[in-house]
Amino acid sequence: MIPILKNIEIAPNIFEMTLEHPRLAKKLRPGHFVIVMASEDAERIPLTAADFDAEAGTVTLVIMAVGTSTKKIVKLQEGQQLFALMGPLGHPSEIENYGTVIMTAGGVGTAPIYPIAKELHRQGNRVITIQGAKTKELLFWQDKMSAVSNEYIITTDDGSAGRKALVTEPLREILEQRGSAGSGGEIGCVYMIGPAVMMKFCAQTAAPFGVKTVASLNSIMIDGTGMCGGCRVQIGHETKFTCVDGPEFDAEKVDWDVLLARQKMYCHEEQCSYRLYLDSTAEPPLPQTG
Ligand SMILES: Cc1cc2nc3c(=O)[nH]c(=O)nc-3n(C[C@H](O)[C@H](O)[C@H](O)COP(=O)(O)OP(=O)(O)OC[C@H]3O[C@@H](n4cnc5c(N)ncnc54)[C@H](O)[C@@H]3O)c2cc1C
Ligand code: FES
Repeated sequence: MIPILKNIEIAPNIFEMTLEHPRLAKKLRPGHFVIVMASEDAERIPLTAADFDAEAGTVTLVIMAVGTSTKKIVKLQEGQQLFALMGPLGHPSEIENYGTVIMTAGGVGTAPIYPIAKELHRQGNRVITIQGAKTKELLFWQDKMSAVSNEYIITTDDGSAGRKALVTEPLREILEQRGSAGSGGEIGCVYMIGPAVMMKFCAQTAAPFGVKTVASLNSIMIDGTGMCGGCRVQIGHETKFTCVDGPEFDAEKVDWDVLLARQKMYCHEEQCSYRLYLDSTAEPPLPQTG
């Protein structure tokens, strides 16, 4: 059982939950994820370790409530306990000296990108962050992201904050103006984390510039240990499992259409599960966020 120290809504339907877990906090590295169970009979779901403090013994998750399991987790209050938290899982991010790196975050992808940006910045890289959301209300952690960024750009789909644009627009402009390190320019790497469709278009935007690209994939997972095959993805000509081979892969090699199709595989079951959950709790349906 894992004590919940804090659980606050930081944007509509997006929650920051801080947990007491000193052993895990010592082992986590940027890029790691954990598997969480709200209760003994709950589904196991993957969530990124969005922040961790080895000294304080705390682990922070950022959770967007999109269905039954995430909804059950965010309903837990400070002072209550999570049934289980397993990790660290996945390979940590390869933190290198890239010179200048672009961190492209979409929606709740800001949470997993934060610890990577923080470590890249700490190790002397020049970090350019592009943080995008549908609207101003859905932006979060601007203070934390700007603190680990040398340049910080916000975009919103509706123009309610920052620039009215998709994240791909400033990404293309920066790559055009400054070029990739591989061809004598400045940008050594482009990270992208967010909805699969956003990462697909970021990868396509970066491709002509010959820059290293990294995406963290959000495949549907079941066991998180490489045994079930649920999270399989196509990377170039190879089949890989996001849980044990990833979650980070060369974005230009990812078959995004396979990932997008596999994310929709259990839509019917997810909807049935959520209807049953609503019937049992008499809660209103979730707002549409992203
Ligand atoms: C390595 C990894 C790290 C992740 N980190 C985070 C995180 O830090 N914060 C966070 O909020 N979410 C994160 N996710 C996504 C999260 O695991 C899913 O949103 C969650 O499992 C959905 O469970 P549910 O029962 O609430 O919803 P479900 O009923 O399973 O699904 C509801 C809706 O969400 C979609 N969905 C389900 N699973 C995923 C998925 N993996 N990615 C995208 N859409 C999905 C479904 O297609 C459906 O439309 C991560 C996923 C992976 C693989
Ligand atoms: S979640 Fe089962 S193999 Fe990855």
